[in-house]
Amino acid sequence: AIPVRDLLLERIRDVADYPKPGVMFKDITPLLADPAAFGALTESLAELCTRHGATKVVGLEARGFILAAPAALRAGLGFVPVRKAGKLPGATLAQAYELEYGTAEIEVHAEDLNAGDRVMVIDDVLATGGTAGASLQLIRRAGADVAGVAVLMELGFLNGRLRLAEELGGAPLEALITV
Ligand code: PRP
Ligand code: MG
Repeated sequence: AIPVRDLLLERIRDVADYPKPGVMFKDITPLLADPAAFGALTESLAELCTRHGATKVVGLEARGFILAAPAALRAGLGFVPVRKAGKLPGATLAQAYELEYGTAEIEVHAEDLNAGDRVMVIDDVLATGGTAGASLQLIRRAGADVAGVAVLMELGFLNGRLRLAEELGGAPLEALITV
């Protein structure tokens, strides 16, 4: 049998100079279009949720939603969207974080995360770790515990794992692929 990692890697397309010169974009749309690969990815992420004792799954808008929602269902867990600021109608917790240029802000419905929850954060890519780090701050501010962070792909050369270490506070960072 082909290892899951190879199955996934084979379906990620490198796009040079996107969205700007010098950047190699990792395009996951071929993986999503292949039910064998998307299914294997969903199984792997669901298994990580179970292994780390998660009771809820947070997905990070937008690409994280695509991976997190089926994984949550497969693991038998509820799905909570963390959205870019201004998209959620109810009472929210917001967290700003640093980008390469400027800042960004994400939000979650305050009622979706509570004390006693143990939350797995799922996203497609860990780059600098800014987005995932901000989501961990939201989870802790809501009074919930962090089960871990699981990503399809970690861009090792950007050292996001290092930036995230403090916010992880010992919780696991799981990457199915590291490039
Ligand atoms: C991308 C990617 C991760 C994030 C990683 O999302 O999907 O969520 O960047 O970067 P970081 O580790 O440096 O924070 P992006 O906001 O570009 O767009 P999306 O809405 O398509 O997911
Ligand atoms: Mg994203």
